[in-house]
Amino acid sequence: QRMRDGFPPPLLALIRQIGAEAARHGHIVYFVGGLVRDLLLGQQIFDVDLVVEGDAIQLGQTLSRQYGGEVRTHSRFGTVKWLLPADIWQKVAPAQPTEEPLPTSIDLVTARTEFYESPTALPRVERSSIKQDLHRRDFTINTLAVQLDPQNWGRLLDFFGGKADLEAGIIRVLHSLSFVDDPTRILRAARFEARLGFHLEPRTEALIADALPLLKRITGGRVRHELDMIFHEAQPELALKRLQSLGALQAIDEALRCDAWLADSLARLRSVNLAAWDLPDTDDTRLELSWALFLYRRPRPVVQRVARQLLMPRRFVEVLSQRDELHAVLPRLSDSLAPGEIADLLAPFPPKLLLLGWLVTPQEQPRAILRRYVREWRHVRPALRGDDLQRLGIPPGPIYRTIFHALRTARLNGEISTRAEEEALARTFRPAAE
Ligand code: CTP
Repeated sequence: QRMRDGFPPPLLALIRQIGAEAARHGHIVYFVGGLVRDLLLGQQIFDVDLVVEGDAIQLGQTLSRQYGGEVRTHSRFGTVKWLLPADIWQKVAPAQPTEEPLPTSIDLVTARTEFYESPTALPRVERSSIKQDLHRRDFTINTLAVQLDPQNWGRLLDFFGGKADLEAGIIRVLHSLSFVDDPTRILRAARFEARLGFHLEPRTEALIADALPLLKRITGGRVRHELDMIFHEAQPELALKRLQSLGALQAIDEALRCDAWLADSLARLRSVNLAAWDLPDTDDTRLELSWALFLYRRPRPVVQRVARQLLMPRRFVEVLSQRDELHAVLPRLSDSLAPGEIADLLAPFPPKLLLLGWLVTPQEQPRAILRRYVREWRHVRPALRGDDLQRLGIPPGPIYRTIFHALRTARLNGEISTRAEEEALARTFRPAAE
């Protein structure tokens, strides 16, 4: 029933056929991990990955021959992405059209086991049974599998007590070296706790305390990736606060904190309409802004240190490079200034930083001014162009800049509004006749 509720009918039909096709060739296909967890929690499923006990690449090639669609294989990892042909749903489920979005590809992964040859190193990977594959995973709630072959369709495999932990709301590791094998799991634990409203089992929490120093031993990029994942959550501040109480933020860098200020700022960011700030409303922009808020109140050398350690893309911190200059200007923004003066004050700053300034400023007046500048005043331009000035008998030169600035300021201040008025103002800059 959960599977019928969790997937659009054509997708479920395709999965059934994959399970049957696999069985004919001696492979068994499973749903595993996060997908089963979310299925049992009644949450929406976005990506369909299948684990294959057998050979995922061979199965991918068989499916592609049978149904069409390209396959992209990674033989080193035993994985294959099958790009579904556009007409597949017609073939698979002709009687079950659906309005719901259907995937354009399916990932097939060979069941594998991993050996950690030294703490925190990346593991060596080998083909294995489904049980071994599940045993290498982070938390019991992510170790459930559902069998998809026709004989055992929908059978839940629960080797490690995952179902009971899911029902009780518990995040529990499978063995005591889990965080030593992979310290990024510390961040995952807090993320799942916050997202699902679950709790760390006490022994798991104690293991985290022991493993904290390892967060400095792994490459910064992996830590940053996990923090990115947290920023993509609905309420990142919950996981960040938890990481702070576990001592994990401080273990990444002693200057990292999550306090009420950050929680409020992140919450405010969520409800912002980015388009109104001339910014693309993408996950990437939101991520960049979240990082900027996270580091906003840290002195420049600390921002640089964290950015270096976590291998952050330069653009993530670049936006903070003019923060001090902006904060020198913010207290001066008041209604007693003319719009032209405000435009001059704010011109050096990109919209992204202006939005950050707006998010972190409590006073209503400067906030209203920032908003109006970005939405309205920033876009005001004179109607006249260079050739218009030439036509008016003004020889090209540095004076053009001065004239355009004067025209814009006069427009902003409401002193002029038509082209004719601009021409009249421009003429006052004409060199005196000899
Ligand atoms: N996994 C792990 N250790 C990690 C990362 C992942 O054991 N450091 C395992 C987990 O069991 C997880 C699976 O690999 O279920 C897939 O990882 P991922 O896609 O990151 O996890 P999901 O559980 O699907 O999480 P999300 O819902 O956030 O995508």
